[in-house]
Amino acid sequence: MSAEPVLTDDAHEQPSTLAEVLPPDVWSLAIKEQQRVYHDWESQTYDEKFSISYDERCIDYARDRFRKGIPEGAGFGHVLEVGAGTGFFLINLALAGCIDGAELHATDLSDGMLEVCRRNGAEHGITIATRQGDAESLPYADASFDLVIGHAFIHHLPVPGAAIAEMARVLKPGGTLVIAGEPTELGDKASWVVKNATWKTFRAVTAVPGLTGLRKPSITESGGTATDEVLARLEHVVDLHTFRPKDVEKMARLAGLTEVEVVTEELTANWVGWAVRTIEGAVRPGLLGPRGAYSAFVTYLALHRFDDEVLARFVPRELFYNLILPARKPYDR
Ligand SMILES: C[S@@+](CC[C@H](N)C(=O)[O-])C[C@H]1O[C@@H](n2cnc3c(N)ncnc32)[C@H](O)[C@@H]1O
Repeated sequence: MSAEPVLTDDAHEQPSTLAEVLPPDVWSLAIKEQQRVYHDWESQTYDEKFSISYDERCIDYARDRFRKGIPEGAGFGHVLEVGAGTGFFLINLALAGCIDGAELHATDLSDGMLEVCRRNGAEHGITIATRQGDAESLPYADASFDLVIGHAFIHHLPVPGAAIAEMARVLKPGGTLVIAGEPTELGDKASWVVKNATWKTFRAVTAVPGLTGLRKPSITESGGTATDEVLARLEHVVDLHTFRPKDVEKMARLAGLTEVEVVTEELTANWVGWAVRTIEGAVRPGLLGPRGAYSAFVTYLALHRFDDEVLARFVPRELFYNLILPARKPYDR
């Protein structure tokens, strides 16, 4: 393997395999290169890993996040998703009818993600024009879009405020911005407690002789390579930020946006959600089965409603996990 730095900014000059891309020490790559290498690698299994689908379950999820940000709002001519990944948010919003008739565009740092995004769109009769690019320096002209959206991506960026400013720049005057699925600072801390406790309990229980077979085999045990092992570990470095709601509002206002008011959601639903995801990621594949997944989802939905309808009345928004930022670009900009 070459010791030379091999990632370039020109997609056409990129090596074609990860074995070529990876220098001996992947940890020496700059953070954006780590993001690109990691997400390219993750793209082929991303939907499976996060139980992403393009059916009622995920359509409802995407529509609800979007409508929490902008309860009204329709008739968008040109729509862009930034940090689109495999198209989870954009495609499910299209299937939900929230962006009917719009021309759809998606951008992401990872070509691998965009390839899956186009394929996922095509499988549902949805055409998506994609462009590889950096959210902090978007490859689109000023005032190009009526709606710019993002889901679960600004926490990966070295300078999230720069991406919000870029999203504002490419919006037409009067255009709408919705960023959803970002972790709050306190919500994330609580989720770490849950994840750690669940993981430790699972490992202690499955250390008992006879129960070790419940554990998921390691990457190499299940046919992965040493390169896969290294890339999987990058997961622990690509999440860069959590946010205080008021800081995200400040970033949006500094970008010249108005009608800015962060909404948060998921408190108990988040704790249970992370406990389930931790177990799902730790057990032998297939062990929980569709029934297990269904029960977990029904529990999550019930707790989500409880959080929204009861706890949100008196628990401060900072404690909830998921942050949604709606904003508008004023006509005079
Ligand atoms: C957690 S995934 C979210 C993907 C998708 N929005 C979703 O909700 O499933 C984060 C995405 O951000 C992308 N990303 C990371 N850094 C980026 C950057 N600087 N510019 C654009 N996209 C970036 C990654 O490639 C990845 O697809």
